[in-house]
Amino acid sequence: MIKEIIFLVLILIQIINCELIYSGQDASFNPDWWQKEIIYQIYVRSFKDSDGDGIGDLRGITEQVEHFSNIGVSAIWLTPIYQTPGVDFGYDISDFERIDETFGTMSDFDNLVVTYHRYGIKIILDFVPNHTSDKHVWFKKSVQRIAPYTDYYIWHDGIKNSEGKRMPPNNWLSVFNSGSAWKWNEQRNQYYLHQFLEEQPDLNFRNPNVVHEIRKALYFWLERGVDGFRLDSANFLFESKDLSNEPKAENNTNMKDTDYYSLNHTYTIDQPETYELHHTWRELLDEYKEKDGSTRLLVVECYSPFNQTMKYYGNSTVPGAHFPFNFMLIINFNRQSNANQLQTLVTKWIKNMPKGMWPNWVLGNHDNSRIASRFDPMLVDGLHMFQMLLPGTPVTYYGDELGIRDTFVRWDQTIDKGALNVGPERYEKFTRDPVRAPFPWNYSIHGGFSYGEKTWLPVSPDYWKDNVQSEEKYKSHLKTYKQLTDLRKKPTFTHGNLHVYTISDWVFGFSRSYTDHPTYVVLINLGSEMEIINLRHIRRSLPEILMVKVSSINSGFVTGNLVSREYITLRPKAALTLTTS
Ligand code: GLC
Ligand code: MG
Repeated sequence: MIKEIIFLVLILIQIINCELIYSGQDASFNPDWWQKEIIYQIYVRSFKDSDGDGIGDLRGITEQVEHFSNIGVSAIWLTPIYQTPGVDFGYDISDFERIDETFGTMSDFDNLVVTYHRYGIKIILDFVPNHTSDKHVWFKKSVQRIAPYTDYYIWHDGIKNSEGKRMPPNNWLSVFNSGSAWKWNEQRNQYYLHQFLEEQPDLNFRNPNVVHEIRKALYFWLERGVDGFRLDSANFLFESKDLSNEPKAENNTNMKDTDYYSLNHTYTIDQPETYELHHTWRELLDEYKEKDGSTRLLVVECYSPFNQTMKYYGNSTVPGAHFPFNFMLIINFNRQSNANQLQTLVTKWIKNMPKGMWPNWVLGNHDNSRIASRFDPMLVDGLHMFQMLLPGTPVTYYGDELGIRDTFVRWDQTIDKGALNVGPERYEKFTRDPVRAPFPWNYSIHGGFSYGEKTWLPVSPDYWKDNVQSEEKYKSHLKTYKQLTDLRKKPTFTHGNLHVYTISDWVFGFSRSYTDHPTYVVLINLGSEMEIINLRHIRRSLPEILMVKVSSINSGFVTGNLVSREYITLRPKAALTLTTS
């Protein structure tokens, strides 16, 4: 009797931990390109240097097109390639309709588009609407109050404090921890707003001319054949009109007053007008689609509170972006996180998306530590199984397919302004240089990235072993990645439902099933001990013997191995994709 009760309780626990969170699509569902493809972010300065100046460029990218057919990627996102003084490495644009010399010419760009399209690969441009460079002619003329540029930016006289000293109009802070987001301009005798670097003045979207200029620039690139945009800092476009002070953040004890996160950003991000503007850009792209039937994608970057992030999707009558990036694996998940936290994160995004919208899974980007460093190099394969086999669009940061780590960059080599702003004691916490190192192609000098003497950032000392050429030779992260990009094309993944499981404290699992197609079960051990897994109570319909379809490099298994559903050993940080066929 006692035995039976225990058994029942056990079953109950299993049921509680197992959830059907996505019921799949019916046979008539025909996914659009952006729902099928993987979006691969190329950090242009670090991908491939064709002219030996130590900086990656457009020709380099064009030369390497076959890398993408090899790994099964058919959409690339290029970080900004427009004319720039490069203070924020391209995120400070001085002409929206020109290519920066460092990256090549307009004809290099046209060539890239033609070549990639020939291979069936889509091109997404990173577009920066929130601010320009202070070297942009609009800003120069705005400083001089030359019409119509006078109010292209956000200018203010400031206020006088009790001693009669001039001060910025409020307490708003720059994202890059340099202090006030307002900078005094001697020539114009006013402050201007810069939510990022002082070399990146914020545009004034309350000025219809600015709205028009940006729309025109987007159209310019559509006409040159791009397939969509990643909109940078998409949540920053408007600030509240009344310029109220922002409230102090709750947990700001370890922060300096100049640290951006010491305040809650209630007045400088996610304003109602911001959402409206995105809707108009979506309309522009949808209109453009009419020309040839191919969707032009709108993806937005925002590190906003969850509910505000969801609103960037818009809804079926007033659509916003195709999706806002899902940064939950960056913000809400770390080395301490357990299986239940991972389950919650998946469930939260899928269940809270507005009706009819599509999920996406971002593992990393040029602003955050790489997955191999943020978690563990051995978890890379498991995380790829996670993002490739869940419903939704996976987003890959260049180099993560190789499982490379961050490259340490000394203080004296540091060039990221956000890190320079905080000084040698704290720079390691803020610097983005280590995640932007040159891509390791092969064993040769500079990992085959450049034939020049020097590279703009140091090449990883690991390149002698972790590079494309070497990973082609053995059981590697690269090979796992390729297996997964292939596997995700199967109907079970395009159409199937999704169950998620917390199998033990540290083992997260999910399964995908679709009518009479094979079911797949993914198991990921986040922990640091070996785990013995029994799947019997978790999914009763599973056959007794399952086959290993994909295995992480550290798992001890290879594709084709058979396992009993009642006894599966999973090493620390190992992951398996099992199938019923
Ligand atoms: C975005 C970019 C980041 C850049 C910032 C300012 O967050 O990803 O790299 O520095 O916007 O444009
Ligand atoms: Mg170059």
